[in-house]
Amino acid sequence: MAPDENPLRLGMRRERIAEPCIMVIFGASGDLSRRKLMPALASLSARRLLPPEFTVLGVGRTSWSDEQFRQAMQEAVAEFADRELAAGDQWKAFAGGLMYQCADLGSADVYGELARRLADLDRIRGTGGNRVFYLAMPPSMYAPIIGGLGEAGLGSGPGTGTRIIIEKPFGRDLASAQALNRDVNRVFDESQVYRIDHYLGKETVQNLLVFRFANAFLEPTWNRQFIDHVQISVAEDIGIGDRGGYYEEAGVLRDMFQNHLLQLLCLVAMEAPVAFEADAVRDEKVKVLRAVRSLDAGAHRVHAVRGQYVAGQVLGRPAGAYRDAGGVHPASVTPTYAALKLHVDNWRWQGVPFYLRSGKQLARKTSEISVVYRQVPHLLFGGVARADLVPNVISLRIQPDEGIALSFEAKRPGTSLRMRPVEMDFSYGSAFGLLEMPNAYERLLLDCMLGDSTLFTRRDEVEAAWRVLQPVLDAWDHATEEGLEFYESGTWGPAAADDLLRADGRRWRRM
Ligand SMILES: NC(=O)c1ccc[n+]([C@@H]2O[C@H](COP(=O)([O-])OP(=O)(O)OC[C@H]3O[C@@H](n4cnc5c(N)ncnc54)[C@H](OP(=O)(O)O)[C@@H]3O)[C@@H](O)[C@H]2O)c1
Repeated sequence: MAPDENPLRLGMRRERIAEPCIMVIFGASGDLSRRKLMPALASLSARRLLPPEFTVLGVGRTSWSDEQFRQAMQEAVAEFADRELAAGDQWKAFAGGLMYQCADLGSADVYGELARRLADLDRIRGTGGNRVFYLAMPPSMYAPIIGGLGEAGLGSGPGTGTRIIIEKPFGRDLASAQALNRDVNRVFDESQVYRIDHYLGKETVQNLLVFRFANAFLEPTWNRQFIDHVQISVAEDIGIGDRGGYYEEAGVLRDMFQNHLLQLLCLVAMEAPVAFEADAVRDEKVKVLRAVRSLDAGAHRVHAVRGQYVAGQVLGRPAGAYRDAGGVHPASVTPTYAALKLHVDNWRWQGVPFYLRSGKQLARKTSEISVVYRQVPHLLFGGVARADLVPNVISLRIQPDEGIALSFEAKRPGTSLRMRPVEMDFSYGSAFGLLEMPNAYERLLLDCMLGDSTLFTRRDEVEAAWRVLQPVLDAWDHATEEGLEFYESGTWGPAAADDLLRADGRRWRRM
């Protein structure tokens, strides 16, 4: 049978259409909704993956009628997505299902009215009581909204068509995440809860699982016997923009590590799940987080670097210091960069360090995982020094220029035996003829509507991630300027991060 006739492959390729439902977007007038959610929903609608009954009920304090909401969203889709999505019959069909409710969600009175509006819409639109609540709101509003939904009887229960999507950040430390989980689970069964980390919706992140578990050649070497260490880098070239108030409270560990970087660590380090199913995948990720060696008892002093950007040039343009940004205290010690050395204490990874780094206003925007192999055990080419031999590296590029590269030693042409590292490079764009990678939110919103939570974070998983970082957060939240490493904007971060690896005889990969 030709591979394409294989019914299993055909089954995987067939895209499922969501059931009729109302998606209630709390914070529909906000940035996330305009920039990501509406373009993703408009695109799903254009691809006919949403049923004609699909309805959005946007909620915010901005005083809009349904028609004004439609107009604002049309402008947003035109600005942040393909202009064609916001035009013609395609847009008309989607916009017919856009409704708006002006409400101050801090007031307990509004939820009864919301319940009535939803019941009306169910009748008019034929959505059968299926609802997805999306919290695109400031995190301080999560608990009041969840409580309000519960009071108004809108939580329903397991097995019903009600779901809730909760944006990051999920808590600001372990205790607050546990408290939020309790609030959520008082109203919603865990099977109804979708904690979103848009990184997991990225094609290349999902491809990491396919690469590891759909190919036989990798597994025998994916362990401490062959791998020397792993590097996970998520670099941003932008600063904090006008989000100073938020960032002062968050810092890089809460903003990037608790979610994106630890998720990437899980996907690299996890054992093969028994199936690509929500609980099977998440069980394995939780095991990784539980196996991460604690950074308490002062370990963070040796295994963690915190930095903050000062003025410099990013991609040839002048870039200001963090302390000069709006909403930032002039003597702020909030870290905008961190590098951590973690160990995963289990049979597969004992002794293999995982170096994680992320920062703002760095040399360029890029996310990459590098799996660096050990040196060969014995050198048989005379005249080649061990130090000249570059170890094999598998680089998984998450963004941009998504793809996978394997570097290995090759003989230079000529009569003498000299070698140099070369690369086998797979690029997503050219292999699949893609001009642009699909939007992560499209995949995740559709998955939620289909009831598939594989790519969302479970309660124990989010708490386990906070537990990994808590000792460092405790130390850094009370730290002074001492030990804060300032780095020039447009560089790859502070020299202390290089020293972290140099102390182990290693160095960061050039990106
Ligand atoms: N923006 C992004 O790209 C992004 C990415 C990842 C995660 N997130 C997360 O998504 C959430 C929303 O972020 P955002 O950037 O969209 O924030 P934002 O632009 O500040 O929008 C906040 C939204 O909440 C509404 N709101 C605030 N208080 C309200 C109240 N009492 N009653 C009713 N509505 C209220 C605002 O409505 P009015 O203005 O009409 O009052 C607005 O629609 C945050 O948790 C953020 O961390 C955002």
